[in-house]
Amino acid sequence: MARFHRLRVAAVDRLTDDSVALTLTVPPRLREEYRYAPGQHLALRRTADGEEIRRTYSICSPAPDGEGPSTLRVGVRLVEGGAFSTYALKEIDLGDELEVMTPAGRFTLPPAPGRYAAVVGGSGITPVLSIVSTLLAREPDARFCLIRSDRTAASTMFLEEVADLKDRYPERFQLVTVLSREEQQAGLPSGRLDQERLTGLLPALLPVGQVDGWFLCGPYGLVEGAERALRGLGVARSRIHQEIFHVDAGTATVTTATAPAHSTVTARLDGRGGTWPVQAGESLLDTVLRNRPDAPYACKGGVCGTCRAFLVSGEVRMDRNFALESEETEAGYVLACQSRPVTERVELDFDR
Ligand code: FES
Repeated sequence: MARFHRLRVAAVDRLTDDSVALTLTVPPRLREEYRYAPGQHLALRRTADGEEIRRTYSICSPAPDGEGPSTLRVGVRLVEGGAFSTYALKEIDLGDELEVMTPAGRFTLPPAPGRYAAVVGGSGITPVLSIVSTLLAREPDARFCLIRSDRTAASTMFLEEVADLKDRYPERFQLVTVLSREEQQAGLPSGRLDQERLTGLLPALLPVGQVDGWFLCGPYGLVEGAERALRGLGVARSRIHQEIFHVDAGTATVTTATAPAHSTVTARLDGRGGTWPVQAGESLLDTVLRNRPDAPYACKGGVCGTCRAFLVSGEVRMDRNFALESEETEAGYVLACQSRPVTERVELDFDR
């Protein structure tokens, strides 16, 4: 069950002009709760002017083997006008305490032998850095090819950390950097990484059909283009994992559900249940939150997957979904923040 705790900031490292890495100390009594799989994220919460803001940031540090972590490091990039990222870049200082949710997310790779690859854009490197560094350190029979796309070298997050992986694992780690707004030295690609570019580039870099897992992370356009390129190259959907970082408003088709006049949601959360009427226009998460403020959520935008719940009975329609894989929706999971009732009774289980 997701919970918030106050964790102290142990380091603030500036990565680029518009991004920082925050290191948080985890006291021994909480280490088990903050144990994470490489690729997971943390939701940070802050109340400003009476309004609660939550944002999720991916953990970039390798996942420790054995006991839970003593520190957690997350990457934060400034989003123009972003309420949390502006605060993170301008105000957060050493010794501050932040409200941090326990780790969540299913964009993960438990270390296993094999060949893996990632296509990332901008801050999409953050979870993949944790995935690659954990994998290469723990699994000697694993190889990783990272294709990263950034605007310029100066705006590239975790440049040193990635270069370090290249030095440490020259045989098993392959790195390709594509800069969209900067000419590179001869022979290196530049320009935008879209479906067409990737369709040509990927087979030249590695045996596409032999890759056990593909990890796509970054803005919606890049992830979508990479997925289409991979599918076109014959890669099975089950080998493609994706996490979207930014979705422009209007990108998704929002379906308008025809809601019944009166509907109720029954929800089970942390072992306790309740049934409440759904008010006109609200999502099922909003209904649950009015009665159970401890219900898990972070983005409320269908992107992070923190509000995932199992649909026990009834029918819902999701406005948009950038977080759940098709196997999860087929198995009966929904995003509560995007779900509207289609039947008069809907039952959700947040504990499954
Ligand atoms: S809260 Fe992020 S997907 Fe629902």
